[in-house]
Amino acid sequence: MTILVTGGLGYIGSHTVVELLQNNFQVIIVDDMSNSEKFILDNIEKVAGKRPVFFPFDLKRKELLSQVFDAYEIDGCINFAAYKAVGESQEKPLDYYENNLFSLINVLQEFKTRNISNFIFSSSCTVYGQADEMPIDENTPLKLPESSYGKTKQMGEEILKDFATAYKKKVSLLRYFNPIGSHPTALLGELPIGVPNNLVPYVTQTASGIREKLSVWGNDYPTADGTAIRDYIYVVDLAKAHVKALQKLLNETSETVIDIYNLGTGKGSSVLEVVNAFEIANDVKVPYQICERRAGDITVAYANADKAEKELGWKAETSLEEALRTTWEWQKYLVNRG
Ligand code: UFG
Repeated sequence: MTILVTGGLGYIGSHTVVELLQNNFQVIIVDDMSNSEKFILDNIEKVAGKRPVFFPFDLKRKELLSQVFDAYEIDGCINFAAYKAVGESQEKPLDYYENNLFSLINVLQEFKTRNISNFIFSSSCTVYGQADEMPIDENTPLKLPESSYGKTKQMGEEILKDFATAYKKKVSLLRYFNPIGSHPTALLGELPIGVPNNLVPYVTQTASGIREKLSVWGNDYPTADGTAIRDYIYVVDLAKAHVKALQKLLNETSETVIDIYNLGTGKGSSVLEVVNAFEIANDVKVPYQICERRAGDITVAYANADKAEKELGWKAETSLEEALRTTWEWQKYLVNRG
């Protein structure tokens, strides 16, 4: 089976490529390198013992994409290629809509024309907004996300539902909670460009001395310690869920399938709990200061991931501390690389 992985050199993409290769899938990566580096491809090979086929281009370039489909018999796609910075999406909404939706539609057009099924879409728990009840299961009503980034995820889901229904295709929409951590080999991990927006990369860079202090955005939330709560899911666990979701689609006998799964641990952790867990796991200090709330942040989000366990036989296995240990090992690897 040959699987196209768009954005396969990115954070979640690279970990998923390794899992696919280790499960004997052939992998073709298309990635424009806008948020990755070439050494990630070499490191995928080091970890998996196989080198995926790689094409460096922007998926908006339809003619190049078509040539890939001409050259390889593709059986399915996992679509990671997207811009993902919430704040930036508010400043550059058109870039987000253009990049995230046109690239998706271009791949789907190829699937339609060439009669290919099996499409997995990287979605996000952002589609739920601030849900009224916890934990969040797949029947929790969707709310319009505040950010243009979040809207591209919700629109992407709608596009895929229509695609599956109209053309009789199998699709899986995977709603990630907060992915963290790095590969246990310390050869793959997140490469934040500039100042990180997300909590764990910022904590890591603070512990490393690159940042002076972590700003904890608000301690007046209605939670036990006043800081906001999220469901932090280890990236390798998340990557494994993609393989399970793909195998399920491949085994489905129905022509039309629209699967939706929440991928989280089911456990919420506050910002201060993450900071403490990082300090304990790695025996380092993370200086922090309490600041005003960040605009657009919700109070609490954690998953009910029972559906994924029941239907995919998948559940998160790695503890927060263990995930945070891998993050620190990756940071040391990056520092040594220079
Ligand atoms: N936080 C801090 N300080 C920081 C960074 C984050 O206190 O320097 C806090 C945030 O306020 C939030 C928590 O840490 O309470 C997690 O923040 P992240 O930015 O790591 O993650 P978010 O939950 O805001 O965003 C994530 C994904 C988005 C996705 C969103 C859906 O990064 O892609 O979940 O809710 F859209």
